[in-house]
Amino acid sequence: MTVHLLTLLEAQPGAYVSGEEISRTLGVSRTAIWKQVRKLEAEGYRIEAVPRLGYRLVERPARLTEAELRAHLKTRELGRHLHLREAVASTQDEVRALAEQGAPEGTLVVAERQDQGRGRMGRSWISPPGKGVSMSLLLRPDVPLPLAPQLTLLSAVALCRSLSRITGLRIGIKWPNDLQVEGRKISGILLESAAEDERIRYVAVGLGIAVNLEEADYPEELREKAVSLRMAAGRAFDRAALIGEVLLEFERLYDLYREQGFEPIRLLWEANAVTLNRTVTLYTAQGSFDGIPRELDASGGLRVELPDGSWRTVYSAEVGDAAPIDR
Ligand code: BTN
Repeated sequence: MTVHLLTLLEAQPGAYVSGEEISRTLGVSRTAIWKQVRKLEAEGYRIEAVPRLGYRLVERPARLTEAELRAHLKTRELGRHLHLREAVASTQDEVRALAEQGAPEGTLVVAERQDQGRGRMGRSWISPPGKGVSMSLLLRPDVPLPLAPQLTLLSAVALCRSLSRITGLRIGIKWPNDLQVEGRKISGILLESAAEDERIRYVAVGLGIAVNLEEADYPEELREKAVSLRMAAGRAFDRAALIGEVLLEFERLYDLYREQGFEPIRLLWEANAVTLNRTVTLYTAQGSFDGIPRELDASGGLRVELPDGSWRTVYSAEVGDAAPIDR
């Protein structure tokens, strides 16, 4: 009920909503409303109550609250088992521990602060508290382990489509799953899987989004390479609403994937990719080479055309701009 009260108050910013209307809409007593107001106040909301006028939301806490996250959840499954943490080492560790204890698909861990956030290729992921989104989602797909990279690509499409819609920015996917605005990274995705007998037991999908960071939040060496949604769009975003949209798009695509397989996801990834059809350098564990990525194959590998006209498929690589030919 906390959720619905908040939704009602937020739907009419600055206006008083009468106790009668709240009672009627939510089907609860005046006493129940008052109790929920106290609960929201304990979470950091300031709600003004004026006799004969009703209730008005005056201030929201700067940090994420469970009530607010739930108010923006529009999914059937994803995020419904919600764990909001103030500070953790990594949300990936939290969600994996929950998975080992039998947590259901869709379990979500969101943290304001990560002290040991990690990225791909053994890198660390740093985000100042209260400005970004750091969260891990638990999936239990019934697919063979070699197909896990498909979920990486699905995650990228989900973020790309939802964030583009919310911000109006032109967001592109760099192989395999970095999201960029004009060549600068705005978000990172890290998938960690646990398997048994070559089948996935669970996947921890780690999503890091630079939402409201400002230039001063970035170390000098990252300012050319990374940007936040706020810096790129010139306005701040409501993080709870953004999480709600990301999860909704994720659930739509995950349903599609379970119903129709990878093909629709493959096409959506290609439609949003910035890596295709231009010469790049691919850095793999076996060394680097230049080529033109042309498409994804049916399993999610990147098909690259080489200068001699032959083709090579890569499953794990870093993509960089190719050196100019005349150097
Ligand atoms: C990358 O771009 O290298 C991936 C970054 C992934 C960061 C997210 S933040 C939430 C989750 N918890 C982590 O420790 N990492 C992921």
